[in-house]
Amino acid sequence: MSAAPAWDALWRHVHLMPLTAADPGATVRDGALAVRGGRIAWLGPQAALPAGATAAREHDGGGAWLLPGFIDCHTHVVHAGQRSEEFELRLGGESYEAIARRGGGILSTVRATRAAGEEELYAQSLPRVRNLMREGVTTLEVKSGYGLEPEAEARMLRVARRLGRELPLRVKTSFLGAHALPPEYAGRADDYVAMCCELLPTLAAEGLVDAVDAFCEGIAFSTAQVERLFETARNLGLPVKLHAGQLSDLGGAELIGRFGGLSADHLEEVSDAGIAALRDGGSVAVLLPGAIHFLRETRRPPVAKLRAAGVPMALASDCNPGTSPMPSILAALNLGCLLLGLTPTEALAGATCHAAAALGLSNETGSLELGKAADLALWEVERPAQLCATLGINACRHVAFEGCLRTDQ
Ligand code: NIG
Ligand code: FE
Repeated sequence: MSAAPAWDALWRHVHLMPLTAADPGATVRDGALAVRGGRIAWLGPQAALPAGATAAREHDGGGAWLLPGFIDCHTHVVHAGQRSEEFELRLGGESYEAIARRGGGILSTVRATRAAGEEELYAQSLPRVRNLMREGVTTLEVKSGYGLEPEAEARMLRVARRLGRELPLRVKTSFLGAHALPPEYAGRADDYVAMCCELLPTLAAEGLVDAVDAFCEGIAFSTAQVERLFETARNLGLPVKLHAGQLSDLGGAELIGRFGGLSADHLEEVSDAGIAALRDGGSVAVLLPGAIHFLRETRRPPVAKLRAAGVPMALASDCNPGTSPMPSILAALNLGCLLLGLTPTEALAGATCHAAAALGLSNETGSLELGKAADLALWEVERPAQLCATLGINACRHVAFEGCLRTDQ
């Protein structure tokens, strides 16, 4: 007979929604979950707890719902400044593209971000990250892309790394140098992409880059240009992802599929061939309803087709100062259901197990499974779908990151 287990922590009186990719809708009522060494060591019905099990810390969940910590797999949280002037211009009828073409949009945030020192950038980004953390986020993707010159891009990524070091949070960084063409390269997009390709090995050597992203769009970069960047990434062993089909379909999903990329994000415009490529490439479709909401976009990603093709759909905040000033994963869940037609279970899986896949973290986090990180969020709701059905209510009571209860949220 094996000895009774000794755990670091035990959560009792909880209902569990493990959100595994294999069966996201499954739940365990009256469950328990144990943690050892920051990992999930046991989970199941409380009645099945092994006899004699002990735990250094016991948490009484009081009948609340325990879910995996949320994963926000697409954000631009690190930036300086704000863009409410553009909000007003868009309300007045001007388009996002028109504003971008005359030097507003992304380039307006580039000016503010270049002007901010590292401390300032950290201080401005921190409240957004804290807001996401209060909503149960335990893993956060952070992109560069508002520096567009070597030092400012590196600075953004250093700030992202510092957030991951100083907060109880897992941070994954993406180099998004190819986000917009900076004014000093006007008319020389190929030269700018070449500069990004040259910069990438240096940033990677400094440990600042987990993945490479780009904006494949009429107002940004062509598929040929993105492909050059992706080849550089491949040579460095870095995974790729892409802002694809937000405003127009240039074949970005096909490119991601061909490279076996982590994800294609936005996808308001994507062809059937693009969907098939994502399926064949094992890539995730990351849906960003915040951008649809704020841009009053009338097009929608083809959720029914993605579902039918079996392409996993993740959901993220896209938190950025222009098209989605929304540091809220709970808002993304609600908008994902209302604007995109996701079911609450699909939305919850989109912000957990499928978001983990979009970051290459499926073996590490994103679901309550034995051996995975004990990244947990306890919700005072009657049913998990309540998290999607409301807006402006945060029922998160406790969050644990790698088994440690967060106190200073
Ligand atoms: O994901 N589309 C490109 N990037 C962001 C927008 C960034 C911005 O407008 O500052 C997005 O929507
Ligand atoms: Fe984005």
